[in-house]
Amino acid sequence: MNKNTFYLTTPIYYVNDIPHIGHSYTTIAADVLARYKKMRGFDVFFLTGTDEHGQKIQKAAQACNKTPIEFVNTIVDKFKVLWKELSISNDDFIRTTDERHCCRVKRIFQRIYENGDIYLGEYEGWYCVPCESFWIESQLFEGNKCPECRRVVERVKEQNYFFRLSKYKDRLLEYYDKHPSFIQPESRRNELLQRIRYQIEDISVSRSVVEWGIHVPMDPRQTIYVWIDALLNYITALGYDDNMQKFQKYWPASVHIIGKEILWFHGVIWPAILMSLRIDLPHKIFAHGWWTIEGQKISKSLGNAINPLHIVRSFGKDAYRYFLLREVPFGLDGNFSCNALIKRINSDLGNDLGNLLQRTLTMIEKYFHGVIPHINTEDNELREESRMTYEKIDREMNELQFSRALEIIWNFVGCANKFIEDKKPWLLAKTDGVREQLATVIGSLTLAIRDISLYIYPFMPTIAIEIQRQLGILKDDQPFNLEFQQGFREGTAVQKGKPLFPKVEFSEAYSK
Ligand code: MSP
Repeated sequence: MNKNTFYLTTPIYYVNDIPHIGHSYTTIAADVLARYKKMRGFDVFFLTGTDEHGQKIQKAAQACNKTPIEFVNTIVDKFKVLWKELSISNDDFIRTTDERHCCRVKRIFQRIYENGDIYLGEYEGWYCVPCESFWIESQLFEGNKCPECRRVVERVKEQNYFFRLSKYKDRLLEYYDKHPSFIQPESRRNELLQRIRYQIEDISVSRSVVEWGIHVPMDPRQTIYVWIDALLNYITALGYDDNMQKFQKYWPASVHIIGKEILWFHGVIWPAILMSLRIDLPHKIFAHGWWTIEGQKISKSLGNAINPLHIVRSFGKDAYRYFLLREVPFGLDGNFSCNALIKRINSDLGNDLGNLLQRTLTMIEKYFHGVIPHINTEDNELREESRMTYEKIDREMNELQFSRALEIIWNFVGCANKFIEDKKPWLLAKTDGVREQLATVIGSLTLAIRDISLYIYPFMPTIAIEIQRQLGILKDDQPFNLEFQQGFREGTAVQKGKPLFPKVEFSEAYSK
């Protein structure tokens, strides 16, 4: 693999319902990483998309009196609109109903069959439609409930094609052993290892009663199990197996970002399929935690599945992106509440960052007629702190520790604010003969804020651009300046604008 490429994916989303906070979390995290890697010079390919086949979607379409394709088209559009509103910078969007995907899935399925890893058998067991998952009796919760979503499962008895998953048990265990960071976080890796040791059986990979899907090439009465169809998107989007240019360039994936509940599919079934196809495995699978809302599981029936667009319209997309990644260490579960979001907006964003910019621009206006003074800051404590920040962020981002990266950035924001308190430019301005010193203080601050705009850019691209605009670095339609080394042109005129994050009153807050 070319070391300079970086391929990352989100899961492809079921389109049985409109997107909620949980969906946006996976995509925002992936977007932050994609932007970060692009900034650091990687040739990034960032993939997301939609998972459109299967019984769940077939039923949802029926319930609305629509054909499946009519039904999915409307929901896919909602995902696309949301990603645009959230500044998601994906390079491709794959739909499992795309012809490019369907024809490749058929060929790949046939190939696995010809390799001897798919055989015809009889399935008797349980099926959870909302999770599109097969379960054996011993896995069920009391009252025949799905161990994942706790809804009642259906009894299934049908002739199906099976994939020889059990054949790969030893090779998988050996692989996990040799690649300790393949599955992260560590705690989820351990759970998976426990489970695979006592519970790995061949799996059914087709359905005879589900019409809405890709038909099994050697037996068109059956459709391919939706999870096999879906997992293959990670390689069909790259053109596997008839247009291999992108595949050769970007595969293996650098990281599949997923939620914890779908780790079995990604950490066990997916690698076994790749082994069967003799394709290298992805470098990393990272399973993040789940969000609850005001303490409750997000669910349609509880009516708490907030549409992220409502939050974005009330509080702004960058604040929302910041909150999701700052509030909870990536990998752990979190709880969303408007109060917690407002607190972060008022303190971290408004007080710490917004005020830093406002105060600095006000001083440039007052002491230097709105023009950034000559900057001579080589041995300055803020420069040194910024260099360290740059390195520390990289360590955390490579571990997908977004909240820690943000803590480090905010530590630097704090240093810049403290620098103002320590240097007291307002006193320097009143003192004769220290004009050069005053210019150095203001210049150092300006450079620090420019660096902050770069550090926050992956998390809050719109605000980063606004900061550069107010600093006078960006003229109207210029693209965001990613250059760390570049200094300011002499005579750059600042363009102080509205506060970045006006204070939000708790009473005005969005409530639902
Ligand atoms: N279609 C499958 C994925 C196939 S990938 C080959 C699927 N789709 S999903 O729409 O149900 O979930 C997509 C992503 O949203 C998952 O990563 C899931 O973890 C995430 N979330 C859905 N609800 C969530 C929360 N409440 N909290 C955090 N993320 C959650 O699974």
